[in-house]
Amino acid sequence: MSNLNNDSMGKRLDSVAIIMDGNGRWAKMRGLSRSEGHKAGAKAVAEVLKLFREYGVHHLTLYAFSTENWKRPKEEVDALMELIYMYVENVVIKTLIKEKDLCVRFIGDKSVLPEKLREKCIEAEEMAKDRPFVCNVGLNYGGRDEIVRAANRAFSDGHRELSEKILSGYMYTAGSPDPDLVIRTGGDFRISNFLLWQSAYSEFIILDTLWPDFGRSDIDKCIKEYYSRNRRFGGLDPEDGESEANIT
Ligand code: FPP
Repeated sequence: MSNLNNDSMGKRLDSVAIIMDGNGRWAKMRGLSRSEGHKAGAKAVAEVLKLFREYGVHHLTLYAFSTENWKRPKEEVDALMELIYMYVENVVIKTLIKEKDLCVRFIGDKSVLPEKLREKCIEAEEMAKDRPFVCNVGLNYGGRDEIVRAANRAFSDGHRELSEKILSGYMYTAGSPDPDLVIRTGGDFRISNFLLWQSAYSEFIILDTLWPDFGRSDIDKCIKEYYSRNRRFGGLDPEDGESEANIT
């Protein structure tokens, strides 16, 4: 494992989430259809997962299809659903057989997905559980939808008052740490309804790279940038805290 993912202070990068944007522009630049862009995007996924695992990142969350993506033209939505189905069947399931330390979870409301895709996702989830490396794939995922569902489920379980801890336990990501780092490819500065609850104190990196081109050099750049950030979680630097204490 490379030692890029470590700093002298013991800070670790263990959970990364990615908004994989730019497939359409990547395709347009090459005179290809948007679906060809998504195909190229799917190819990038396996390599990116492998690289983050090499760096010891145990939780990778990828935004594949949002609750708002249904607004796209029907041909694009259908092609994406078919592509994701083929990917789960031909890549994810084979990878889970080979890589004994990896499991996959599909986060989002699966109930409205095409039935054969929903079943394939469940099959992949059931094949491997509680393994140290977790890949969460957002499929019909929306951050607002997740929060509303979590609250409703908590109330129907009998909770009369919510706390952050209770609500966290009802999120699709329950049991996984919040992302240390959220990366967005494709250059837009917005969160697009992704992990609204979980990213409260995440570091954000926006890259101009279009998703199908995202690879090792961008990952190395992101990890270095992450370690240059000073995470205070709303508090003070330890040194600043000390000097304040000295003054009083
Ligand atoms: C955003 O690019 C990308 C998507 C809505 C789909 C993401 C899907 C994949 C990367 C492939 C399938 C994923 C898995 C996990 C197999 P865009 O279409 O909005 O690009 P644009 O902003 O350039 O138009």
